[in-house]
Amino acid sequence: MTAAVFDSGVGGLSVVKSLIKHKMFDEIVYYGDTARVPYGAKDQNTIARYSLEALEFLSGFEPNVLIVACNTASAYALDELRRKAAFPVAGVIEPGVLALKNGGVKKRDRVLVIGTRATIGSGVYQKLLSAQGYENVTAVPAPLLVPLVEEGIFDGAIAQEAFKRYFGDLGAFDAVIMGCTHYPLMQTALGAWFAGAKLVHSGEAIAEYLKANNLAFGGADETQIKFFASENVNRLKEVAAQWLNLP
Ligand code: DGL
Repeated sequence: MTAAVFDSGVGGLSVVKSLIKHKMFDEIVYYGDTARVPYGAKDQNTIARYSLEALEFLSGFEPNVLIVACNTASAYALDELRRKAAFPVAGVIEPGVLALKNGGVKKRDRVLVIGTRATIGSGVYQKLLSAQGYENVTAVPAPLLVPLVEEGIFDGAIAQEAFKRYFGDLGAFDAVIMGCTHYPLMQTALGAWFAGAKLVHSGEAIAEYLKANNLAFGGADETQIKFFASENVNRLKEVAAQWLNLP
């Protein structure tokens, strides 16, 4: 089984990590659109166009499934990708909401969604959470975390300053959806900041979703990963080696 995985940059590696952990695919073809990251500051048409270009590139590998490991692209391009692709396409937003629900977060609990400006602005998380009966939802964009992660900064003074700016006045939450695949690379720091809250991670959420929808067959003892990027693939490989503990 081959999965094609796409993100604007290195963030989708957090999804790849979960796919490897759950032994879901023999082969993963990863494409990071590093020349054009961040997507979160772009408008709907641009995000959809870039996503369709990624589909065109990844279609050449004839994958069994395309995993849109980018919340921003999932928010704006999922329907169009599904219409054009010759294979199933899974996004990360619906799985994230289901993971919250299946993880025992109650309807009255205080839920925070953090993501890019485009993802939060799309209202897709808010709509799906409301449809599941969640009443106490705060949604906040935290765009600066994306370039920090692209730069390999997962914690420390600069990260803490950004947290203070975005989350400093928000109070406490029972659950936090990391609605951007870059954010789990900062999970240790975010977990400490939101101490006591349940953190929802797109990678773990989509692994559950793929199993539930028969889109992966498990038992892959080894996963071969091919990395592609629209620029500077070596930088992507460096972050991958660090994050995925590759040799
Ligand atoms: N990692 C992406 C997401 O999940 C996009 C970050 C960006 O390019 O702004 O939304």
